[in-house]
Amino acid sequence: MEKIVSLAKRRGFVFQSSEIYGGLNGCWDFGPLGVEMFRNLKDEWWRTMTYREDIEGIDAAILMHPRVWEASGHVENFTDPMVDCKSCKARYRLDNLLADLSTKRKKEILRSIEPELFSGKLDDEKVLNEFNNRIKGDVANKVVQTLVPCPNCGNTATFTEARKFNLMFKTFVGPVEDSSAVVYMRPETAQGIYVNFLNVQSASRQKIPFGIAQIGKAFRNEINTKNFLFRTREFEQMEMQYFVKPGTDTDWFEYWRSQRIQWYIDLGMDKQKLRWHQHEPDALAHYAKDAYDIEYQFPFGWGEIEGIHNRTDYDLSRHEQFSGKSLKYFDDQTKEKYTPYIIETSAGASRSFMAFLIDSYNEEEAPTADGKTETRVVLKMHPRLAPVKAAIFPLVNRDGMPEIAKKIEKELRPHMRVFYDDAGAIGRRYRRQDEIGTPYCITVDSQTLEDNSVTIRDRDSMEQIRVSIDQILNYLKTKII
Ligand code: GAP
Repeated sequence: MEKIVSLAKRRGFVFQSSEIYGGLNGCWDFGPLGVEMFRNLKDEWWRTMTYREDIEGIDAAILMHPRVWEASGHVENFTDPMVDCKSCKARYRLDNLLADLSTKRKKEILRSIEPELFSGKLDDEKVLNEFNNRIKGDVANKVVQTLVPCPNCGNTATFTEARKFNLMFKTFVGPVEDSSAVVYMRPETAQGIYVNFLNVQSASRQKIPFGIAQIGKAFRNEINTKNFLFRTREFEQMEMQYFVKPGTDTDWFEYWRSQRIQWYIDLGMDKQKLRWHQHEPDALAHYAKDAYDIEYQFPFGWGEIEGIHNRTDYDLSRHEQFSGKSLKYFDDQTKEKYTPYIIETSAGASRSFMAFLIDSYNEEEAPTADGKTETRVVLKMHPRLAPVKAAIFPLVNRDGMPEIAKKIEKELRPHMRVFYDDAGAIGRRYRRQDEIGTPYCITVDSQTLEDNSVTIRDRDSMEQIRVSIDQILNYLKTKII
């Protein structure tokens, strides 16, 4: 992780927010290469999800009527259990404190609370399962208060009783800061879709089943932010809500599960590092009938990158109830009127950006010009995600090579993001592009002066082929676009 965070900063993918003031916890800025790669990722999602006849896109406001969040259940339920250390005042999420304990410590805790059950030899997987099954609710509260040391000061028996902490950021509309002016920064993009369900359906004349997709910022006042872009306070989501007839929801749920995991694989993510996690019935969100997470194996462990949820008719029924407006669908063929069920695909855009960045990171031994080897850092990301598609180099800065290279750059630039580089040895220039994932490097050399051909080097295999200058664009288009 350290190597990736440092590369991300050095090459302009991601910077700490407000760095010159010491940074703001849980907030990050995308730099020139990061913003390009992030846009590519979001474009890929947008293209896959909305360039089909049954899905429409929207872009709803971040601030919404405060009743939306009462109807959605966020005012009441969108809370995390928070504890404070009485010794050093550090603040933690109760579940994180428990999850972060070592397996050895978890074993000791199980033994201390149920010695007769856990006296023998226990394998690690069993410990983790038993710990998660038994240490919850009041028991979790008690364990944290008596047995868990504060990660900051090391004291034990120092935590307060857990309190519910609502994760929504509050602000005010208008100049008067009283309770009637409170609004929330949306903690998910989904609600902007639900409240627009009938607007979109009638404007686009869609029939059920159909979906509405949206990409946008979401805000959560996380108690503890961690792991770079994994858990931040400001982030982006790519969410799609698919409205279906009740009774067909289970089939659509399976359909969307397979579509969504395939999307990551098609964009080059290592299949071995993806897995499903089904939510246990007692861990399901208040709205869900079934839920699966797509998890990625990050350097710090498995973590969710996308959730697929069967949300039933919960959301539309609640908005009907709270707004007093009907959100029922009328099927003019069968003459049935009903509240659709919703299958949601909810991906973290910034979190999956990080997963793609990590997944592409490779260190390899590569030959140098003088017959030795060196370590090359290469981001082997899908060409469509790569921030720069091609780099153009004159082999030397003379004999008309820079002029030809500049001309190639000019011709390619309207079609894709390219980079011209004439500084330093050619090997160094290749390495600089490998490190940011540029899939192709085009070099103008002495043979170009004779036959108008250039070399095109492939980032992953490092093989070079000769292509005539007038064929470069075609070649790159077939590989990248
Ligand atoms: N509408 C459903 C929903 O918001 P969620 O599981 O709370 O479900 C969906 O969030 C996705 O949003 C997660 O899978 C994750 O990728 C991303 N996400 C959630 N909280 C995040 C945070 N604090 N920082 C970065 N990404 C986050």
